[in-house]
Amino acid sequence: MRGFAALRYNQILMRILITAGPTREPIDPVRYIGNRSSGKMGAALAEAAVSAGHSVTMVLGPVSIAMPDVRTTHVETAAQMQEAVLREFPRHDLLIMAAAVADYRPISVAPRKMDRAGKLIIECEPTPDIVALAAASKSPSQRIVGFSLEMEGDLERARQKLGRKKLDLMVYNPVATMDSARVQAVLLWPDGRNESLPAMEKRDFATLLIDRCAKLF
Ligand code: C5P
Repeated sequence: MRGFAALRYNQILMRILITAGPTREPIDPVRYIGNRSSGKMGAALAEAAVSAGHSVTMVLGPVSIAMPDVRTTHVETAAQMQEAVLREFPRHDLLIMAAAVADYRPISVAPRKMDRAGKLIIECEPTPDIVALAAASKSPSQRIVGFSLEMEGDLERARQKLGRKKLDLMVYNPVATMDSARVQAVLLWPDGRNESLPAMEKRDFATLLIDRCAKLF
């Protein structure tokens, strides 16, 4: 592994690992706990990064949109995403964790399709915090960017996550971003600065974010 992101014609070239899409946590062979993440942000980030000359690897949950033609590991569950991210991260300079990892998973998976019979209670446990695990194992030359999807205006929660997960940059985006082509984000920097961005197409936001990420090196 080389020590730092490379320089070409004064431009930082990064090996970027991008996670995108939701995870699905099985309840039985046909049902799962999931969320509405479309993967559009991850697709836009990968496209912007490739256009800027960076090398990109994706770890991708189940999505139905077309994704850029980059090296991709397809996963379904948070456990599979954890395994893929921790395996791939050492070969990369930057991790952008845009995936919407399910926060909870059923403690046990029913081996057969469950019948509908009265009230159903599913006992769940928290999934591993993948980005925090990656941050705990990162080398001094690596950087990590997280995404925090919060109710309108709840910047404080996003800032707490930046510190708790030990990230280099946190993207706050309101819940309305989900499944939308547009985003109105705030970049939360570890020095306390909040950089509020205007509403824009995810494509334009992705180009801006990749540019900001280069400044982390
Ligand atoms: O869900 P939360 O708001 O904590 O997500 C913040 C960041 O943490 C996101 O970048 C998300 O991908 C990541 N995350 C994770 N593993 C989880 C939950 C969230 O890596 N189990």
